Order: sequence, then structure tokens, then C-alpha cells
Amino acid sequence: MGQHPAIPRKDDDLTPNDHIQAIANTAGFHFGTIEQGGTSLYPSLAQRVTHPEVLRIVLSIGPTEAMHFQTWSDKAGNAPPLTDPNDPTLVFPDLNSPPFGGEEFQTNLIMPEPTIFLSRKLPACSIVRPTATKGAAMGALKFLTAMGLFIGQSPAFFELMTDLAEDADEARRGRG
Ligand SMILES: [Fe+2]
Repeated sequence: MGQHPAIPRKDDDLTPNDHIQAIANTAGFHFGTIEQGGTSLYPSLAQRVTHPEVLRIVLSIGPTEAMHFQTWSDKAGNAPPLTDPNDPTLVFPDLNSPPFGGEEFQTNLIMPEPTIFLSRKLPACSIVRPTATKGAAMGALKFLTAMGLFIGQSPAFFELMTDLAEDADEARRGRG
């Protein structure tokens, strides 16, 4: 809960052990969340692409995000339980013990789970989700902004990013 550093900001951050481990744990969960977004973003935007080379780029990068997501999901599951001695509001619980634990939380279950796709009439299948394409780029920008990735960036940065996201969301297949 709250805002916590995911990189060491000064030499003092390197000790004590549980403090630097808390920073590493934060980074582990942060990365997983970013890759989760990326895993959805590429298939979402691929549906807007017309030029074959752009489609190749999107299709070649997108699956690597899924690899990153799965790896970081696994790593996050190994985050040592601890309380940051420098900031007791930062607590990492033991994810394999109650109220966590059990099959729902088993931290090495990192394969996609079957879910509803396209129609409830069809059997559940394992997919990347969400992959709806409407507003996907602006949604990604809002998500990354809300998670604090861009804290400290200038108004000009946000203006540029918003313009880029709007352009991406206005793209339509087949306009050449
Ligand atoms: Fe990635």
C-alpha cells in the first residue's frame, strides 16, 4: 500500500538487509504489473495495424511481454516475507500461508488460467486478456500514470504522451 521506492536512491538504501530486500520486492511486483499491461497492450493495438511491417513489429515484441510477465509472476511469488525496517508501512506477507496460500494463491502456478473468451457459449480457454482495442493506448497511459511510473515528469511530457495515445487510439485498420 502507498508509494515505495523500487530502486535504491542513496547508499544508505543498501542496508539493512530487509530494507534493500523490500526495495527489491517492490521492484519485483512493479515489473510484473508493467509486463501484465504490456502483454495486453500489444495484441490490443495489433488489431489497429495496417502496414505489414508495423504488424511484424507489434507481433514480435508482444509475446516477449508475456514471457516477462510470466517470469516476474514467478519471481514475485518468491518475494521474502518482511517488513521494511526503515518504513514499517511496507509489509510483504507470506503469500503461501493463510489468508493466502492454497491453490488460488499457489505462487508457482504461473500458467494462464482458462476463462471466458468471445462468448459464454464457448468453452473456457486460456488467453491473454484484456485484448479489447477501444481506448487501449489511453488506458495504458492512464494505468502507467496512476501506478506512479511518471512521477516527476513535466507537463510537456504528459502532453506528448497523451497526443501519442490519442493518435494510436484513432488508428484504424485499412487506411494505408
Ligand atoms: Fe517487458
